[in-house]
Amino acid sequence: MIFEQVPVGTFQNFSYIIGDETSKRAALVDPAWEVDKLLQMCKEMGLTVSYVINTHSHHDHVGGNLQVTRRTGAKVVAHVSSPVHKDIPVKDRDTIKVGNISVEVIHTPGHCPDHICLLFGGKLLTGDTLFVGECGRTDLAGGDSSKMYDSLNRLLELDDNIEVYPGHDYGSKKSSTIGYERQNNYTLKKRTREQFIQFMKEP
Ligand SMILES: [Fe+2]
Repeated sequence: MIFEQVPVGTFQNFSYIIGDETSKRAALVDPAWEVDKLLQMCKEMGLTVSYVINTHSHHDHVGGNLQVTRRTGAKVVAHVSSPVHKDIPVKDRDTIKVGNISVEVIHTPGHCPDHICLLFGGKLLTGDTLFVGECGRTDLAGGDSSKMYDSLNRLLELDDNIEVYPGHDYGSKKSSTIGYERQNNYTLKKRTREQFIQFMKEP
């Protein structure tokens, strides 16, 4: 599998390239910035961009969708509830096939109602649900701390060795693991739902 974490834009965003070495098909995840750079990287690796996958509909994750689809013919994949133009609406536990790579969708509302995480090949793309050492904010439109509580607990059901790749470079390192986050992320400390909701209200 070809996998690239690409720092882009001015909000410390990460885009991701998921490529299948055999079919040379690829998905671009959250290509909101520096589309030229992302497409050039794909070209140099001999990859055809078949899909754009959005973790959620915030502008800093979807801003390049149109440019990518116009230039590559890629189909946009997003959660069924996402307001963005999408060709392939997905829901929890759906699978997207990128060549031979199966990408599993985990619906994780809380930061945004249409948020999805992507699980494939021992890697988890967490978008703005989980960062290294932090979780996503829930005070924007559509945010919901109670739903975030369930979403984070769902991610914590995954094995410790699953690698975590967030949607922003906000942490002490650019990626981690579920085990590392379980141990070190203060937002994931054991709390009741009520405690978590209160915790998210604190500055
Ligand atoms: Fe966001």
